[in-house]
Amino acid sequence: MNRPRPARRRTAHVPLLLALALLAGGCAGGVEGTPGAVGLRDPYFPGLGNGGYDVTHYGLELDVDPAAGHLRGTATITARATQDLSAFHLDLAGLDVESATVEGRPAAVNRAGKELTIRPGAAVEDRLRKGRTFTTVVRYAGSPQAITDADGEREGWLRTADGAVALGEPTGSMAWFPGNHHPSDKAAYDIRITVPEPLTAVSNGELVSRRTVNGRTAYRWVTAEPMASYLATVAVGRFTTRESVTPEGIRLFTAVDPESAAASEDVLARIPAVLKWSADRFGPYPFASAGAIVERTGDSTYALETQNRPVFPGPPDTALLVHELAHQWFGNSVTPRTWRDMWLNEGFATYAEWLWAADHDDVPVQESFDEAYEDDDNWAFPPADPPAALDLSDPPVYGRGAMVVHRIRLAVDDDAEFFALVRGWTKKYRHGNASTDDFIAYVEEETGQDLGRLWDAWLYGGSRPPLKG
Ligand code: TRP
Ligand code: ZN
Repeated sequence: MNRPRPARRRTAHVPLLLALALLAGGCAGGVEGTPGAVGLRDPYFPGLGNGGYDVTHYGLELDVDPAAGHLRGTATITARATQDLSAFHLDLAGLDVESATVEGRPAAVNRAGKELTIRPGAAVEDRLRKGRTFTTVVRYAGSPQAITDADGEREGWLRTADGAVALGEPTGSMAWFPGNHHPSDKAAYDIRITVPEPLTAVSNGELVSRRTVNGRTAYRWVTAEPMASYLATVAVGRFTTRESVTPEGIRLFTAVDPESAAASEDVLARIPAVLKWSADRFGPYPFASAGAIVERTGDSTYALETQNRPVFPGPPDTALLVHELAHQWFGNSVTPRTWRDMWLNEGFATYAEWLWAADHDDVPVQESFDEAYEDDDNWAFPPADPPAALDLSDPPVYGRGAMVVHRIRLAVDDDAEFFALVRGWTKKYRHGNASTDDFIAYVEEETGQDLGRLWDAWLYGGSRPPLKG
């Protein structure tokens, strides 16, 4: 019998990172326009992301030497200016920047902590006017680091027994490429990773080429659908890989550490069935490809719904597979506008587990709800307003988030109408971003009900509401 999944394991508390000082970008040096903002004022990570531009495409060329723990990268970032820019910022943690160009001309780079300031020369100022698209190339190298989260888990670039894996939720992707690392700025990606034979490099999207020259193999992965940077991944190591196509035409690529292969076989064989079951409930699968990356037990400690291809820290059980695949709709296609909207990811992914258990394990959804309701851990804080960054992966975001979804189902009181509501949600915000307010407005508009009391009690209330009413 499947039980609701506990929130991400937490190993230790560390002090909150100091908020970045929101310094102005500096003098414009004769260039017209103003510097882009140094952060997007996320409620939990105010310095994360950058203002003044919108990335449309990342081209990443990464040369990885796993034995030395070294990476050399070239990031080609195509972005549209949302204001007349004199300078702008990129987020990058660790690593050394060797050079930057904007529109092919050398640009000045200044480094302050995790912020790079790029100041293009006057010769290209016209190319950074509001509405125009410009290209920035950053060359960098070094030993990418793991970042310890506020909740004590590690993200960023994690070294494994035979390679590395990049995990980016919520802020880890800045450990391996410069960019606009906030979930509100989604973009297409073209990621090329070169690794020594016989290692494999797996990433998001579709594998479009693989070429070996002088003992090093370049893998090129293309993600055409918009992706938030926290969902980008690279996994380097010895992997057993498999490719196939589902009856619906979704391309599958799985990469499994040989030590995890036998124990993963049965559960990974269920991916097509889980995708079909999910699509029947949540709407069409939003991407061209799917799959999984299964690490050796101990190489990482938690699963992540990296786009197309979730990473598992060892052979998953079916409930965890269902959870991570549900995120492809809830989180990856419909992405939180800020980190406060995290419950829209975890609440729906947890609810997907409840639905699966009802259909496959004879556990009625109401029973999963009742169990979550009785669990004191779910009542520590309201899911739509976690007290601090370290709480984003806590039980209320998962279990109480799922309870909110179930209370909506009870309010709608018709299963066909409820699932149509869910499918309409993933359709309306497909490949976009949505906030809790967007969700509330959508549900009230579609159902024609004023659900103010539901939101007050279940989404924002400080304590456990009575079941009646
Ligand atoms: N999203 C992951 C899952 O539920 C868990 C997770 C990984 C997470 N990193 C996080 C949750 C950071 C909150 C914050 O599958
Ligand atoms: Zn999740």
